Amino acid sequence: MTIDFILNGEDVTIKANPTDRLALILRDQFGLGSIVYDCGGGRCGKCMVLLDGRTALSCLVPVFRIRGSEVVTYEGFVNTSEHEMVRSAFDESGLTLCSYCAPARFMAAGSLLDYPSRPSETEVAETMASVLCRCSPPSAVLRVVLGAIEMNENRKYRRAR
Ligand code: FES
Ligand code: FES
Repeated sequence: MTIDFILNGEDVTIKANPTDRLALILRDQFGLGSIVYDCGGGRCGKCMVLLDGRTALSCLVPVFRIRGSEVVTYEGFVNTSEHEMVRSAFDESGLTLCSYCAPARFMAAGSLLDYPSRPSETEVAETMASVLCRCSPPSAVLRVVLGAIEMNENRKYRRAR
């Protein structure tokens, strides 16, 4: 099957079996190193992408579903203002993430900045918990992401005035 979609802003075409998993296509056909195929079953969150603007675990997405869609991996997300805001919030906090989880967690946090209305603390905690990590305290991560959301809201408010 031939599948056309947009990957990190570029039109691309692949040939694949309809049920092939997006994570493996991104990693093996496009060499995108940010995609970590760890659990392969939707539990670790480390294969996260943005699919039409929403977070999705690419190990669970059969490629036929992405026909005509827009897929953003960390390699594309890194050029966005959301990434800049999340990155600087983590830098300022002094909380470091390992390279194994950072791309997925930055994208998860960035997706929260794009919510039509301010996400609740519970929504933020749940979104950030979708990327498994046993080495950084969830409360510290939550504080940083809430700080990034606050910064983003203030920026929107200043622009609107
Ligand atoms: S590899 Fe996709 S959630 Fe773990
Ligand atoms: S898995 Fe990356 S900081 Fe815990």
